[in-house]
Amino acid sequence: MKLREVFQGVYEVEDEEGNHIATLSIAPGTLVYGEKVIKVGGNEYRVWNPYRSKIAAAIIKGLKNFFIKPGWRILYLGAASGTTVSHVSDIVGPSGIVYAVEVAHRPFRDFIEKVSGKRRNVVPILADARNVFEYSWLLQEVETVYCDVAQPDEVDIAVMNADAFLRKNGFLVIALKASSVDSTRKASEIFEKEEAKIEETGRYKIEETVDIEPYAMMHELIVSRKL
Ligand SMILES: C[S@@+](CC[C@H](N)C(=O)[O-])C[C@H]1O[C@@H](n2cnc3c(N)ncnc32)[C@H](O)[C@@H]1O
Repeated sequence: MKLREVFQGVYEVEDEEGNHIATLSIAPGTLVYGEKVIKVGGNEYRVWNPYRSKIAAAIIKGLKNFFIKPGWRILYLGAASGTTVSHVSDIVGPSGIVYAVEVAHRPFRDFIEKVSGKRRNVVPILADARNVFEYSWLLQEVETVYCDVAQPDEVDIAVMNADAFLRKNGFLVIALKASSVDSTRKASEIFEKEEAKIEETGRYKIEETVDIEPYAMMHELIVSRKL
């Protein structure tokens, strides 16, 4: 079994089926979405599926500026049932925190059962990410805001949260789905316009964008930093 660290807390693991990226589980013995587990030296590595998680897709597509580190505090908007949050929780580890916001009750129920109930570094927040005042009282400043809410006003939601909670030089990362913004226009036009919106705030600078097709169609990941 070959194991190589790709970024701090993210590994490339080789087994009989080939190479996978994976995270070291902080909740051994528990699965979140039926992911494959590979055991190496008594540790459990959870395979991170790029078709189920846009961050995994971006890593495989050559992301350079990785925006999650052990010990960091992450504000995650659009947790759904926690597929990606669970891997972010593995990476930040026991000394980090993931504040996970989700507006819909049904996925939130699964999220509590499978993710936050089993991981002490995940804080579940049932709220609309447009209403930052609903959860501002329980957050500390974060190193990264990650937004994956698939809404037409996604950039506004992300910037509003980063203005409120992100530290200077911290990462603002947006998983942008072109068809959620406007299903009638070309993806490239939408990406250009939304990227311009981020930089026009004068408070964020884009470091890189990663096209994550074929793992997620008409999606890109925009990685920016707070000035
Ligand atoms: C594309 S899914 C997220 C998938 C998830 N990030 C993952 O990788 O496992 C978008 C999620 O954002 C949630 N959402 C949409 N609008 C929201 C809002 N205004 N505030 C918080 N969550 C929102 C939806 O309910 C949905 O669960």
